[in-house]
Amino acid sequence: MRQLRPNVYEVGAIDWDRRLFDELIPLPDGTSYNAYLIKGSQKVALLDTVDPTKTTVLIDNLLKLGVDKIDYIVTHHAEQDHSGALADILLLYQDAKVVTNPKCKAMDIDLLNIDQDRFITVEDGRKISLGDKTLQFIYIPWVHWPETMGSYLQEDRIFFPCDFFGSHMASSSLFVRDESMVYEAAKRYYAEIMMPFRAAIKNNLKKIEPLEIDVIAPSHGPVYDKPKFIIDAYADWVSDNVKNEVVLPYVSMHDSTRKMVEHFTDALMDRKINVKQFNLTVTDIGKLAISLVDAATIVLASPTVLSGAHPQLAYAAILTNALRPKTKFASIIGSYGWGGKMVEHLISLIPNLKVEVLEPVIAKGYPGDDELEALEKLADKILEKHKEIGIV
Ligand code: FEO
Repeated sequence: MRQLRPNVYEVGAIDWDRRLFDELIPLPDGTSYNAYLIKGSQKVALLDTVDPTKTTVLIDNLLKLGVDKIDYIVTHHAEQDHSGALADILLLYQDAKVVTNPKCKAMDIDLLNIDQDRFITVEDGRKISLGDKTLQFIYIPWVHWPETMGSYLQEDRIFFPCDFFGSHMASSSLFVRDESMVYEAAKRYYAEIMMPFRAAIKNNLKKIEPLEIDVIAPSHGPVYDKPKFIIDAYADWVSDNVKNEVVLPYVSMHDSTRKMVEHFTDALMDRKINVKQFNLTVTDIGKLAISLVDAATIVLASPTVLSGAHPQLAYAAILTNALRPKTKFASIIGSYGWGGKMVEHLISLIPNLKVEVLEPVIAKGYPGDDELEALEKLADKILEKHKEIGIV
Protein backbone atom coordinates (compact mmCIF):
# COMPACT_ATOMS: atom_id res chain seq x y z
CA MET A 1 0.00 0.00 0.00
CA ARG A 2 1.39 3.40 -1.00
CA GLN A 3 0.26 6.98 -0.39
CA LEU A 4 -0.27 9.49 -3.24
CA ARG A 5 -1.56 12.43 -1.26
CA PRO A 6 -3.01 12.93 2.25
CA ASN A 7 -5.88 10.41 2.53
CA VAL A 8 -5.35 9.09 -1.00
CA TYR A 9 -3.73 5.64 -1.18
CA GLU A 10 -2.85 3.07 -3.80
CA VAL A 11 -4.13 -0.22 -2.35
CA GLY A 12 -3.91 -2.58 -5.34
CA ALA A 13 -1.33 -5.23 -6.20
CA ILE A 14 1.95 -5.48 -8.08
CA ASP A 15 2.12 -8.61 -10.25
CA TRP A 16 5.86 -9.12 -10.73
CA ASP A 17 5.50 -12.59 -12.28
CA ARG A 18 2.73 -12.24 -14.86
CA ARG A 19 4.10 -12.75 -18.35
CA LEU A 20 0.95 -12.96 -20.49
CA PHE A 21 -2.29 -11.00 -20.56
CA ASP A 22 -5.47 -12.25 -22.25
CA GLU A 23 -3.35 -15.32 -23.09
CA LEU A 24 -2.06 -13.14 -25.93
CA ILE A 25 -0.13 -10.06 -24.83
CA PRO A 26 3.44 -10.54 -23.58
CA LEU A 27 4.23 -8.71 -20.32
CA PRO A 28 8.05 -8.63 -20.19
CA ASP A 29 7.98 -6.31 -17.17
CA GLY A 30 5.01 -7.79 -15.27
CA THR A 31 2.17 -5.45 -14.41
CA SER A 32 0.16 -3.95 -11.56
CA TYR A 33 -3.54 -3.67 -10.85
CA ASN A 34 -3.81 -0.29 -9.17
CA ALA A 35 -6.79 0.42 -6.93
CA TYR A 36 -7.09 3.68 -5.02
CA LEU A 37 -8.66 4.43 -1.67
CA ILE A 38 -9.85 7.95 -0.91
CA LYS A 39 -10.76 8.79 2.66
CA GLY A 40 -13.00 11.86 2.64
CA SER A 41 -14.09 13.57 5.83
CA GLN A 42 -17.52 11.93 5.49
CA LYS A 43 -17.32 9.10 2.99
CA VAL A 44 -14.76 6.55 1.84
CA ALA A 45 -14.40 5.55 -1.80
CA LEU A 46 -12.48 2.69 -3.34
CA LEU A 47 -11.64 3.21 -7.01
CA ASP A 48 -11.59 -0.17 -8.78
CA THR A 49 -10.40 -3.46 -7.34
CA VAL A 50 -7.79 -5.89 -8.65
CA ASP A 51 -7.37 -9.02 -10.72
CA PRO A 52 -9.07 -11.94 -8.92
CA THR A 53 -5.68 -13.61 -8.39
CA LYS A 54 -4.68 -10.68 -6.14
CA THR A 55 -7.84 -10.25 -4.07
CA THR A 56 -6.07 -11.08 -0.80
CA VAL A 57 -3.47 -8.35 -1.43
CA LEU A 58 -6.20 -5.74 -1.80
CA ILE A 59 -8.01 -6.95 1.31
CA ASP A 60 -4.75 -6.96 3.31
CA ASN A 61 -4.05 -3.38 2.24
CA LEU A 62 -7.54 -2.25 3.26
CA LEU A 63 -7.15 -3.96 6.64
CA LYS A 64 -3.70 -2.39 7.16
CA LEU A 65 -5.28 1.02 6.60
CA GLY A 66 -7.99 0.18 9.14
CA VAL A 67 -10.76 0.59 6.57
CA ASP A 68 -13.86 -0.75 8.35
CA LYS A 69 -16.38 0.93 6.08
CA ILE A 70 -16.45 1.71 2.35
CA ASP A 71 -19.30 3.83 1.04
CA TYR A 72 -18.58 3.74 -2.67
CA ILE A 73 -16.72 1.31 -4.89
CA VAL A 74 -16.22 3.17 -8.14
CA THR A 75 -15.97 0.75 -11.05
CA HIS A 76 -14.38 2.53 -13.99
CA HIS A 77 -14.16 -0.52 -16.23
CA ALA A 78 -15.74 -3.97 -16.07
CA GLU A 79 -12.73 -5.97 -17.26
CA GLN A 80 -11.78 -8.53 -14.67
CA ASP A 81 -8.25 -7.28 -14.00
CA HIS A 82 -9.93 -4.34 -12.23
CA SER A 83 -13.33 -5.68 -11.27
CA GLY A 84 -12.39 -9.28 -10.54
CA ALA A 85 -12.31 -8.78 -6.77
CA LEU A 86 -15.52 -6.74 -6.68
CA ALA A 87 -17.80 -9.53 -5.46
CA ASP A 88 -15.44 -10.35 -2.57
CA ILE A 89 -15.09 -6.70 -1.55
CA LEU A 90 -18.88 -6.29 -1.63
CA LEU A 91 -19.20 -9.30 0.67
CA LEU A 92 -16.69 -7.79 3.06
CA TYR A 93 -18.18 -4.28 3.01
CA GLN A 94 -21.91 -4.97 3.10
CA ASP A 95 -22.99 -1.31 2.98
CA ALA A 96 -20.83 -0.35 0.02
CA LYS A 97 -22.51 0.71 -3.22
CA VAL A 98 -20.95 0.21 -6.65
CA VAL A 99 -20.79 3.56 -8.42
CA THR A 100 -20.57 3.31 -12.18
CA ASN A 101 -22.28 4.20 -15.46
CA PRO A 102 -25.23 2.22 -16.85
CA LYS A 103 -23.14 0.39 -19.48
CA CYS A 104 -20.55 -0.70 -16.96
CA LYS A 105 -23.28 -1.73 -14.53
CA ALA A 106 -24.77 -4.05 -17.16
CA MET A 107 -21.34 -5.53 -17.86
CA ASP A 108 -20.57 -5.97 -14.14
CA ILE A 109 -23.82 -7.90 -13.82
CA ASP A 110 -23.12 -10.03 -16.91
CA LEU A 111 -19.48 -10.72 -16.15
CA LEU A 112 -19.46 -10.87 -12.36
CA ASN A 113 -22.99 -11.66 -11.35
CA ILE A 114 -23.23 -8.62 -9.05
CA ASP A 115 -26.66 -7.96 -7.54
CA GLN A 116 -28.64 -5.10 -9.19
CA ASP A 117 -29.39 -3.54 -5.79
CA ARG A 118 -25.75 -2.79 -5.08
CA PHE A 119 -25.39 -0.17 -7.84
CA ILE A 120 -25.65 3.61 -8.04
CA THR A 121 -25.38 4.77 -11.66
CA VAL A 122 -23.86 8.11 -12.58
CA GLU A 123 -24.15 10.28 -15.67
CA ASP A 124 -21.17 11.79 -17.48
CA GLY A 125 -19.90 14.79 -15.48
CA ARG A 126 -21.81 13.92 -12.31
CA LYS A 127 -20.05 14.62 -8.99
CA ILE A 128 -20.28 12.94 -5.60
CA SER A 129 -19.03 14.45 -2.40
CA LEU A 130 -16.91 12.54 0.09
CA GLY A 131 -17.03 15.53 2.48
CA ASP A 132 -13.83 17.47 1.99
CA LYS A 133 -13.14 15.73 -1.33
CA THR A 134 -15.20 15.64 -4.51
CA LEU A 135 -15.13 13.01 -7.25
CA GLN A 136 -16.30 13.86 -10.74
CA PHE A 137 -17.00 11.07 -13.21
CA ILE A 138 -15.91 11.52 -16.80
CA TYR A 139 -16.92 9.05 -19.49
CA ILE A 140 -13.94 8.05 -21.63
CA PRO A 141 -15.39 5.35 -23.87
CA TRP A 142 -13.26 2.98 -25.93
CA VAL A 143 -10.08 3.03 -23.90
CA HIS A 144 -10.45 0.14 -24.73
CA TRP A 145 -13.98 -1.04 -23.88
CA PRO A 146 -17.15 0.96 -24.54
CA GLU A 147 -18.10 1.42 -20.89
CA THR A 148 -14.91 2.92 -19.46
CA MET A 149 -15.02 6.09 -17.39
CA GLY A 150 -12.50 8.02 -15.31
CA SER A 151 -12.72 9.95 -12.04
CA TYR A 152 -11.32 13.38 -11.28
CA LEU A 153 -10.56 14.18 -7.67
CA GLN A 154 -11.07 17.92 -7.72
CA GLU A 155 -9.31 19.09 -4.55
CA ASP A 156 -6.15 17.03 -5.22
CA ARG A 157 -6.29 17.50 -9.02
CA ILE A 158 -5.79 13.78 -9.59
CA PHE A 159 -7.26 12.09 -12.65
CA PHE A 160 -7.92 8.35 -12.40
CA PRO A 161 -8.35 7.15 -16.02
CA CYS A 162 -8.25 3.35 -15.48
CA ASP A 163 -6.48 1.67 -18.45
CA PHE A 164 -6.07 4.98 -20.35
CA PHE A 165 -2.42 6.17 -20.04
CA GLY A 166 -1.52 2.92 -18.25
CA SER A 167 1.51 0.70 -18.69
CA HIS A 168 2.04 -2.97 -17.97
CA MET A 169 4.95 -2.56 -15.62
CA ALA A 170 5.64 -3.91 -12.16
CA SER A 171 7.50 -1.26 -10.18
CA SER A 172 8.13 -0.62 -6.51
CA SER A 173 8.16 3.07 -7.28
CA LEU A 174 4.69 4.62 -7.00
CA PHE A 175 5.56 7.51 -9.31
CA VAL A 176 7.26 7.45 -12.71
CA ARG A 177 10.99 7.85 -12.13
CA ASP A 178 12.39 6.50 -15.39
CA GLU A 179 10.40 8.10 -18.18
CA SER A 180 12.12 6.19 -21.00
CA MET A 181 11.20 2.82 -19.47
CA VAL A 182 7.64 3.88 -18.85
CA TYR A 183 7.39 5.39 -22.33
CA GLU A 184 8.22 2.00 -23.88
CA ALA A 185 5.78 0.14 -21.60
CA ALA A 186 2.99 2.67 -22.13
CA LYS A 187 3.52 2.64 -25.91
CA ARG A 188 3.39 -1.15 -25.86
CA TYR A 189 0.11 -0.98 -23.93
CA TYR A 190 -1.33 1.65 -26.29
CA ALA A 191 -0.27 -0.43 -29.31
CA GLU A 192 -1.76 -3.65 -28.03
CA ILE A 193 -5.19 -2.51 -26.91
CA MET A 194 -5.81 1.20 -27.54
CA MET A 195 -4.58 1.67 -31.10
CA PRO A 196 -7.74 0.31 -32.81
CA PHE A 197 -9.68 3.11 -31.08
CA ARG A 198 -7.38 5.97 -32.07
CA ALA A 199 -10.23 8.30 -33.08
CA ALA A 200 -12.12 7.78 -29.82
CA ILE A 201 -8.93 8.31 -27.83
CA LYS A 202 -8.29 11.58 -29.68
CA ASN A 203 -11.73 12.75 -28.53
CA ASN A 204 -11.04 11.64 -24.98
CA LEU A 205 -7.76 13.58 -24.95
CA LYS A 206 -9.70 16.69 -26.01
CA LYS A 207 -12.36 16.01 -23.43
CA ILE A 208 -9.92 16.01 -20.51
CA GLU A 209 -8.05 19.12 -21.72
CA PRO A 210 -10.08 21.51 -19.49
CA LEU A 211 -9.23 19.55 -16.34
CA GLU A 212 -6.41 20.90 -14.22
CA ILE A 213 -4.45 17.71 -13.70
CA ASP A 214 -1.44 17.49 -11.38
CA VAL A 215 -1.37 13.70 -11.26
CA ILE A 216 -2.60 10.92 -13.55
CA ALA A 217 -3.13 7.71 -11.61
CA PRO A 218 -3.88 4.88 -14.05
CA SER A 219 -4.87 1.33 -13.20
CA HIS A 220 -1.65 -0.24 -14.50
CA GLY A 221 1.93 0.83 -13.92
CA PRO A 222 3.45 3.85 -12.20
CA VAL A 223 1.55 7.07 -11.43
CA TYR A 224 2.41 10.20 -13.43
CA ASP A 225 3.22 13.15 -11.18
CA LYS A 226 4.40 15.00 -14.31
CA PRO A 227 1.42 14.11 -16.51
CA LYS A 228 2.49 16.23 -19.50
CA PHE A 229 4.93 13.48 -20.44
CA ILE A 230 2.25 10.85 -21.06
CA ILE A 231 -0.38 13.25 -22.43
CA ASP A 232 2.15 14.46 -25.04
CA ALA A 233 3.10 10.87 -25.89
CA TYR A 234 -0.54 9.92 -26.45
CA ALA A 235 -1.14 13.04 -28.52
CA ASP A 236 1.72 11.94 -30.78
CA TRP A 237 0.55 8.31 -31.04
CA VAL A 238 -3.06 9.19 -31.91
CA SER A 239 -2.06 11.94 -34.36
CA ASP A 240 -2.08 11.28 -38.09
CA ASN A 241 1.71 11.64 -38.24
CA VAL A 242 3.73 8.67 -39.43
CA LYS A 243 7.50 8.14 -39.53
CA ASN A 244 9.91 7.35 -42.32
CA GLU A 245 9.93 3.73 -41.26
CA VAL A 246 9.22 0.27 -42.69
CA VAL A 247 8.04 -2.58 -40.47
CA LEU A 248 9.23 -5.86 -41.93
CA PRO A 249 7.91 -9.02 -40.27
CA TYR A 250 9.17 -12.19 -41.91
CA VAL A 251 9.67 -15.92 -41.75
CA SER A 252 11.99 -17.91 -43.97
CA MET A 253 12.00 -21.69 -44.34
CA HIS A 254 14.86 -22.33 -46.77
CA ASP A 255 16.56 -18.91 -46.95
CA SER A 256 14.90 -17.62 -50.15
CA THR A 257 12.71 -15.16 -48.25
CA ARG A 258 15.59 -14.40 -45.86
CA LYS A 259 17.84 -13.41 -48.78
CA MET A 260 15.08 -11.09 -50.03
CA VAL A 261 14.57 -9.59 -46.57
CA GLU A 262 18.30 -8.96 -46.16
CA HIS A 263 18.62 -7.38 -49.59
CA PHE A 264 15.50 -5.29 -49.10
CA THR A 265 16.63 -4.10 -45.64
CA ASP A 266 19.95 -2.94 -47.11
CA ALA A 267 18.11 -1.20 -49.95
CA LEU A 268 15.89 0.68 -47.50
CA MET A 269 18.85 1.60 -45.29
CA ASP A 270 20.74 2.89 -48.36
CA ARG A 271 17.78 5.24 -48.89
CA LYS A 272 17.87 6.37 -45.23
CA ILE A 273 14.58 4.69 -44.42
CA ASN A 274 14.42 3.17 -40.92
CA VAL A 275 13.67 -0.54 -40.87
CA LYS A 276 12.15 -2.57 -38.04
CA GLN A 277 12.82 -6.16 -39.03
CA PHE A 278 11.11 -8.98 -37.08
CA ASN A 279 11.87 -12.68 -37.51
CA LEU A 280 8.49 -13.93 -36.31
CA THR A 281 9.89 -17.23 -35.01
CA VAL A 282 11.63 -15.31 -32.21
CA THR A 283 9.64 -12.07 -32.03
CA ASP A 284 7.99 -10.58 -28.95
CA ILE A 285 4.70 -9.69 -30.62
CA GLY A 286 4.45 -6.60 -28.39
CA LYS A 287 7.59 -5.17 -30.07
CA LEU A 288 5.94 -5.64 -33.44
CA ALA A 289 2.81 -3.86 -32.15
CA ILE A 290 4.91 -0.94 -30.85
CA SER A 291 6.58 -0.55 -34.23
CA LEU A 292 3.17 -0.31 -35.91
CA VAL A 293 2.16 2.75 -33.87
CA ASP A 294 3.88 5.21 -36.17
CA ALA A 295 5.54 3.46 -39.14
CA ALA A 296 4.48 4.72 -42.57
CA THR A 297 4.85 1.34 -44.27
CA ILE A 298 4.54 -2.37 -43.53
CA VAL A 299 6.01 -5.04 -45.77
CA LEU A 300 5.08 -8.65 -45.03
CA ALA A 301 7.68 -11.22 -46.10
CA SER A 302 6.64 -14.85 -46.38
CA PRO A 303 7.44 -18.12 -48.04
CA THR A 304 4.54 -20.14 -49.45
CA VAL A 305 3.23 -22.98 -47.30
CA LEU A 306 0.56 -25.34 -48.62
CA SER A 307 -0.44 -22.71 -51.19
CA GLY A 308 -0.85 -19.82 -48.71
CA ALA A 309 1.28 -17.62 -46.46
CA HIS A 310 3.35 -19.11 -43.65
CA PRO A 311 0.98 -19.36 -40.62
CA GLN A 312 3.27 -17.06 -38.58
CA LEU A 313 2.82 -14.36 -41.24
CA ALA A 314 -0.91 -14.99 -41.34
CA TYR A 315 -0.93 -14.43 -37.57
CA ALA A 316 1.05 -11.19 -37.90
CA ALA A 317 -1.32 -10.02 -40.65
CA ILE A 318 -4.43 -10.85 -38.58
CA LEU A 319 -2.95 -9.07 -35.56
CA THR A 320 -1.99 -6.01 -37.63
CA ASN A 321 -5.47 -5.93 -39.13
CA ALA A 322 -7.04 -6.05 -35.67
CA LEU A 323 -4.76 -3.28 -34.33
CA ARG A 324 -5.65 -0.96 -37.26
CA PRO A 325 -2.41 1.06 -37.29
CA LYS A 326 -2.28 4.37 -39.17
CA THR A 327 0.18 2.84 -41.65
CA LYS A 328 -0.18 4.37 -45.13
CA PHE A 329 1.52 1.85 -47.43
CA ALA A 330 1.88 -1.92 -47.57
CA SER A 331 3.55 -4.50 -49.72
CA ILE A 332 4.45 -8.18 -49.74
CA ILE A 333 7.66 -9.91 -50.63
CA GLY A 334 8.51 -13.60 -50.51
CA SER A 335 8.90 -16.82 -52.39
CA TYR A 336 7.27 -20.02 -53.60
CA GLY A 337 8.37 -23.40 -54.86
CA TRP A 338 5.83 -24.34 -57.49
CA GLY A 339 2.74 -22.17 -57.06
CA GLY A 340 0.18 -20.88 -54.60
CA LYS A 341 -1.66 -17.74 -53.62
CA MET A 342 0.47 -16.35 -50.80
CA VAL A 343 -0.02 -12.70 -51.85
CA GLU A 344 -3.80 -13.01 -52.19
CA HIS A 345 -3.96 -14.83 -48.86
CA LEU A 346 -2.11 -12.06 -47.00
CA ILE A 347 -4.05 -9.26 -48.71
CA SER A 348 -7.31 -10.95 -47.70
CA LEU A 349 -6.20 -10.81 -44.05
CA ILE A 350 -5.71 -7.03 -43.86
CA PRO A 351 -9.01 -5.46 -45.02
CA ASN A 352 -9.04 -2.96 -42.12
CA LEU A 353 -5.81 -1.27 -43.17
CA LYS A 354 -6.34 1.92 -45.11
CA VAL A 355 -3.20 1.43 -47.13
CA GLU A 356 -2.03 1.83 -50.67
CA VAL A 357 -0.65 -1.57 -51.69
CA LEU A 358 2.67 -1.29 -53.56
CA GLU A 359 3.60 -3.89 -56.18
CA PRO A 360 4.70 -7.12 -54.40
CA VAL A 361 7.98 -8.87 -55.22
CA ILE A 362 7.76 -12.65 -55.36
CA ALA A 363 10.54 -15.07 -56.28
CA LYS A 364 10.17 -18.59 -57.65
CA GLY A 365 12.74 -20.38 -55.52
CA TYR A 366 15.93 -18.56 -54.55
CA PRO A 367 15.84 -14.91 -55.66
CA GLY A 368 17.89 -14.06 -58.72
CA ASP A 369 19.07 -10.74 -60.15
CA ASP A 370 15.61 -9.86 -61.46
CA GLU A 371 13.97 -10.21 -58.04
CA LEU A 372 16.78 -8.34 -56.27
CA GLU A 373 16.41 -5.56 -58.81
CA ALA A 374 12.64 -5.55 -58.18
CA LEU A 375 13.34 -5.15 -54.44
CA GLU A 376 15.50 -2.11 -55.21
CA LYS A 377 12.59 -0.68 -57.19
CA LEU A 378 10.18 -1.37 -54.31
CA ALA A 379 12.56 0.51 -52.00
CA ASP A 380 12.61 3.39 -54.53
CA LYS A 381 8.82 3.38 -54.62
CA ILE A 382 8.58 3.49 -50.81
CA LEU A 383 11.02 6.41 -50.69
CA GLU A 384 8.97 8.20 -53.34
CA LYS A 385 5.75 7.59 -51.38
CA HIS A 386 7.32 8.77 -48.11
CA LYS A 387 8.47 11.92 -49.92
CA GLU A 388 4.97 12.48 -51.28
CA ILE A 389 3.51 12.56 -47.76
CA GLY A 390 6.29 14.82 -46.52
CA ILE A 391 8.09 12.57 -44.03
CA VAL A 392 11.45 12.54 -45.84
FE1 FEO B 1 -6.70 -3.27 -17.42
FE2 FEO B 1 -9.02 -3.26 -19.81
O1 FEO B 1 -8.26 -3.78 -18.24
